[in-house]
Amino acid sequence: MELRGRVAVVTGASMGIGRAIGTPLARKGAHVVGVARGRPDLERFLEEARAFSPQSSVFPADVADPEAVTGLFEAIHDRYARRGRIVNVVSGAGRSPLGREGAYCASKAAITAFSESISYELEPFGVQVQVLYPGYVPGTRMAEEAARAPDLPATGRASPTDRPIAMIQDVASFLRYFGGGLPDRG
Ligand SMILES: NC(=O)c1ccc[n+]([C@@H]2O[C@H](COP(=O)([O-])OP(=O)(O)OC[C@H]3O[C@@H](n4cnc5c(N)ncnc54)[C@H](OP(=O)(O)O)[C@@H]3O)[C@@H](O)[C@H]2O)c1
Repeated sequence: MELRGRVAVVTGASMGIGRAIGTPLARKGAHVVGVARGRPDLERFLEEARAFSPQSSVFPADVADPEAVTGLFEAIHDRYARRGRIVNVVSGAGRSPLGREGAYCASKAAITAFSESISYELEPFGVQVQVLYPGYVPGTRMAEEAARAPDLPATGRASPTDRPIAMIQDVASFLRYFGGGLPDRG
């Protein structure tokens, strides 16, 4: 899949799954725009990304702040791209809820419905929307926290440690499936 010169906006790029997705995108030559709130980790990500893709950049922003998100996409639109593909990282918990994680599971199910809804809205503009449902990803803070609370699932399903559904490399390999829709530099 040719990613050279294409643009990838990765929210949460400073650590965990976002970083595991952002760095390989840069390695394949995409211009990665990394987004997170904390600058130090974001700067470390930028250094890593620019080693492969010098036009990569970072944008410190809180994605829960509507003004910040508007500013982010205006800046991205001006600098890079006009249309493309949205991939929302949801969670297996949005489809198979875990006990005692009601708010998390409900928020993940909501992202699925939201993604489907905007997919209809954005289709006329050539923007596709897709969702990814990872299980616990070993090596991330979330999986480590879950492993420290072995009774967390409370559903009889596999514990976080005995059956990871996705390894971080598996999540990064989503590129093979989704990378084709990244926009050219516009
Ligand atoms: N890890 C797993 O096992 C797993 C499994 C299934 C699904 N997921 C989902 O995958 C996503 C990423 O998980 P992760 O484990 O990689 O998380 P993580 O290691 O905690 O990383 C979260 C990233 O998002 C950024 N972030 C958090 N809140 C933000 C905000 N309001 N605005 C902008 N950036 C923000 C963080 O940086 P700052 O804090 O500096 O902003 C960081 O870069 C989450 O939606 C999670 O629910 C994770």
